[in-house]
Amino acid sequence: MDIIESLHWRYATKKFDSDKIVSQKKIEILTEAFNLTATSYGLQPLKLVVIKDKELQKELTEHSWNQQQVADASHVLVFCIEKVIDKKYISQYFNNVIATRNTPEEIINPFKKQLIESFDSKSIEEISNWATKQAYLALGNLLTVCAIEEIDACPMEGFIPKKYDEILNLNNLGLTSVLVLPIGYRAKDDMFSEFKKVRRSIDETIIKI
Ligand SMILES: Cc1cc2nc3c(=O)[nH]c(=O)nc-3n(C[C@H](O)[C@H](O)[C@H](O)COP(=O)(O)O)c2cc1C
Repeated sequence: MDIIESLHWRYATKKFDSDKIVSQKKIEILTEAFNLTATSYGLQPLKLVVIKDKELQKELTEHSWNQQQVADASHVLVFCIEKVIDKKYISQYFNNVIATRNTPEEIINPFKKQLIESFDSKSIEEISNWATKQAYLALGNLLTVCAIEEIDACPMEGFIPKKYDEILNLNNLGLTSVLVLPIGYRAKDDMFSEFKKVRRSIDETIIKI
């Protein structure tokens, strides 16, 4: 499949074949793709929880508007954002830049100071909104990678983050959940797999200048 065929092939899977499991090799491709996602300033204010536990998936389904994709999927990926982006967090990022690229500190320091001051002036809500945008980017990236790897997926906002946070103990990790992505393989009788894609026409969505 070329990339456009792959993007036609994918759809928000409503019914997974619960007997089919995504291989560990494919999970590693997805986790690496998640980590390679571009983020604002490169700060990666994200973590991905990879769940492969049917009991836990069943429990989470109750807090996902009862959407059975969560119970039946091979794995459930939970996109989380860091709740605190402070001086310590930003300094760790720049330490990584210095260690990875051998960049002299005098080059790093002015930008580091500017970024620390900028985040210091933001409210908790502003930081949360900014971080959440990065999670959506990672979700988009993984949807495309899933399509290329022929893994089915269902992007989901339909869940109760507070409940997920409690069950997965995310608060203790300084995280909160923002998106869910059950992945696996479509059930033969998922009628949605046969539906035509509904999209506005290209003429409506593209402006050529
Ligand atoms: C951010 C986001 C949240 C979504 N939340 C849900 C959801 O909770 N449950 C669901 O069944 N589909 C959900 N969808 C799937 C969309 O309805 C679907 O992607 C859209 O209708 C386009 O169809 P397609 O993905 O099959 O091409 C979500 C999609 C996105 C991008």
